[in-house]
Amino acid sequence: MAGVTGYIRPMTLRKILIHPDPRLKAKADPVGTFDKDLAKLADDMLETMYAAPGIGLAAPQLGLAKRMLVMDCVKEENATPEPMILINPEVVWTSEDTSVYEEGCLSIPDQYADVTRPAEVTVNWQDIDGKQRSEKFDALWATCVQHEIDHLDGKLFIDYLKPLKRQMITRKMQKLKREMARAD
Ligand code: NI
Repeated sequence: MAGVTGYIRPMTLRKILIHPDPRLKAKADPVGTFDKDLAKLADDMLETMYAAPGIGLAAPQLGLAKRMLVMDCVKEENATPEPMILINPEVVWTSEDTSVYEEGCLSIPDQYADVTRPAEVTVNWQDIDGKQRSEKFDALWATCVQHEIDHLDGKLFIDYLKPLKRQMITRKMQKLKREMARAD
């Protein structure tokens, strides 16, 4: 991310909210201003995602009600990273074919469950300069982009699970948050 211009932008790791939190259940607002503060936030989000480590992160997970997400689903070690920044993303087409992935979430640490989603999606979004972009995603990228766009609408992957399983995970997270609060 640095290197292209030889100018290293200072990056900051941001704190990721843990479920349950009302900010994770709220619908985020469209982004209207594409300025250097937004570019800094995008850099911070990517840095925070890679450090976690994760393959996707949405602004509401940092307590920011902005329709913005970052992702990089390149998982092979030594492969070239493919960081993506999607602002005001919108799913405009979904395949009838579905796929099942065992999903996790940086806001729900160490909990994983199978979720069924459309196998392919076309997403329109704006890049960091506000330019319109569109791309068809498949495989893990398709699942990841849908999971992250859900965050912008206050939806978590556990909302796809049966109530009993969801409650079990939520109780584990409440316990984790109590332990984290004591450690602070
Ligand atoms: Ni998530």
